[in-house]
Amino acid sequence: MNEQTEILKTIIENRRSVKPGFYIEKKVDDAVIHAMLESARWAPTHGLTEPWRFFVFTGEGLQKLADFLSKTYKENTSAENFLQAKFDKIKINILKASHIIMLGMKRQQNGKIPEVEEICAVACAVQNMQLTATAHHAGCYWSTGSMSTHASTKKFLRLEDADLCLGMLYVAQYAGDVLAPARSEIQLKTSWIS
Ligand SMILES: Cc1cc2nc3c(=O)[nH]c(=O)nc-3n(C[C@H](O)[C@H](O)[C@H](O)COP(=O)(O)O)c2cc1C
Repeated sequence: MNEQTEILKTIIENRRSVKPGFYIEKKVDDAVIHAMLESARWAPTHGLTEPWRFFVFTGEGLQKLADFLSKTYKENTSAENFLQAKFDKIKINILKASHIIMLGMKRQQNGKIPEVEEICAVACAVQNMQLTATAHHAGCYWSTGSMSTHASTKKFLRLEDADLCLGMLYVAQYAGDVLAPARSEIQLKTSWIS
């Protein structure tokens, strides 16, 4: 292995989903967020549609996001299913983050590229951001919970009906050991046809 492949392997294997329980109050430098966004734009994109749209919430913006998503949970949950603890948790978790990047997928006007390919392109961009965060020792975590993929969240982000919000990328400084969940050996998931 050469130096480059060694570095790449280390970053890929060290990336972890770092969840709010590990976050500390110290902010992630905006320069790290810019580096993450810069890496996102180099993701593969069929037809160069660049379907990713990112909405970065920080400072007071996090409070706006927390208020919106908790309200969305309340408005879209029946009285018997509503849990005050979940409502509170949505806010608490968001406010623990340093930045949250909402992950939009903008549908191409003529719809020539299939939607699934546009979703895949955004996912590639998100992985670039997660790896860049790892390289900068920032914690991050892709969440599709807390109403982040709900239709009203799209509207909140001024996305249109054909677009999607694919969730939220938490970014934060963290402390503690985040363990790697077990993975299967890749041979179990691979067929070679030669
Ligand atoms: C598209 C996508 C959505 C995810 N949504 C959630 C989520 O809503 N809640 C959650 O706890 N983890 C979520 N995760 C993170 C996974 O739980 C995590 O990747 C998995 O546990 C493996 O841990 P690791 O990322 O540290 O390797 C999501 C991951 C992906 C790729």
